Amino acid sequence: MKNNLLRKSVSVLLCVALLLGCGGLVGYAADVSWEQYWDDYVSDGSALYMSPGSSETSRGFSWFSPADSGKCFVEISPNSDMMDSLIFYGKSVITPQKDKRNRVTVTGLSLNAEYYYRYGNGDVRSETYSFSTLPSNDFSAFYTTDIHIAESSSDEFSIRDRSYNLDRTLSAAFEKNDDISLILSGGDQASNGLRSEYVGLVASPYFTKIPFATTIGNHDRKAPTYRYFKNVPNENDKYITSSYIGSDYWFVKGDVLFFMLDTNNTSAEDHRNLIKRAVALNPDVKWRVAVFHHDLYGGRIESRESDNRLMRKILTPIFDEFKLDLVLMGHSHYYTISNVIFDDKTVLETAELDEVTNPEGTVYMVSGSINNPRADNDGVVPPLGENAGKSYLTMEKIYNIIDFTENSISIHSYTVESGEEFESFTITKTTKNGGHPDSKPGFMDVVLRYISVIAGFFNNIGRTLDYLQTYIFG
Ligand SMILES: [Fe+2]
Ligand SMILES: [Fe+2]
Repeated sequence: MKNNLLRKSVSVLLCVALLLGCGGLVGYAADVSWEQYWDDYVSDGSALYMSPGSSETSRGFSWFSPADSGKCFVEISPNSDMMDSLIFYGKSVITPQKDKRNRVTVTGLSLNAEYYYRYGNGDVRSETYSFSTLPSNDFSAFYTTDIHIAESSSDEFSIRDRSYNLDRTLSAAFEKNDDISLILSGGDQASNGLRSEYVGLVASPYFTKIPFATTIGNHDRKAPTYRYFKNVPNENDKYITSSYIGSDYWFVKGDVLFFMLDTNNTSAEDHRNLIKRAVALNPDVKWRVAVFHHDLYGGRIESRESDNRLMRKILTPIFDEFKLDLVLMGHSHYYTISNVIFDDKTVLETAELDEVTNPEGTVYMVSGSINNPRADNDGVVPPLGENAGKSYLTMEKIYNIIDFTENSISIHSYTVESGEEFESFTITKTTKNGGHPDSKPGFMDVVLRYISVIAGFFNNIGRTLDYLQTYIFG
């Protein structure tokens, strides 16, 4: 009863906030409360979201439909009345709930264009949505991590309210910068890995308009749902080991090659192979950015440091070898931007800098969680890693807008509550490689990489047995 009262109060507050004019560039109608919108959204059950395609000229779409629904398709047109439309068909997989998750990839899009689309199965078509493609290589991305769309329990009210928080955070970001054309998430989108969480995750109408690229967090692995939910381009299907729910993938946006890595899989050999293949296919793309879940250099959670040391040993030689510019991470829920790192060591301290030009290494950034922020531990400030350059401790929620241009990547970090920019940091490169030194993996790097494959193999057996126990035999 007490909980119900609390929920009602939160709901009323949310509605008041909405009526006070938090309207976004896209969204539910201003005269509809989030509660009404949410009820309609959940009863529809499609949970449509758009993902990036392999490049800007393609997009992925995925949604749920009943088991007896017909063949899945996306109809796309340059006209709002859907004249001259093209239809792309896709594939469906049967989910553990015995309905379908449909996946369609639309290709051959023009740049600098607006498109309208409907998705459907058989004779059933959705309403019309729209999106646009980039006019040039410059773009901005919204970066968040550890959305944790449900609190520790997965009750629908916490998902509804946190989904609203995500929608409002996106709206605040778009009010600052309406050139945002990509949403990046560094894992732990869910807390429990449940379907209700992934449905709630993409409730905001922004996810029908802006491509959403996710990585796998340790919490996403708690159940197999993400395996059915995702629709990602260039997913690594030549792996030695991978998590049951997915593996690494890559895509190009503007002049940036993104590596979306599943670092729950310890197999560094698989991560290296994915990066190597993507680079070979896109040798002229100037910027290289990795996104994954685990925080390598923040150092705020001492109990994780022995694991982090190991991860740094096996992963950073790969990032040096392929001259990565920026790595985006999460997991610790503590905001940090590292020093410039090469060979797992600081080569340039960033604490007092706003910009680095042609850095001789990689910058590693962790954003705070937008739903589960952490600051001090009962008044004790947690320690900072020796290679962490910039940090910000706050119980406020954080979001980031990252501007990608021909010569620079600029990170702008804001708190949701104040809307203030508390940090900005720019990486500038005047040539394709900037200041990155050439680097080849050493003998011990290779040995450790192969040990990490064996570790990944056993780790995944354990996780698969957990799934079987919980979801098949449990
Ligand atoms: Fe998390
Ligand atoms: Fe995590």
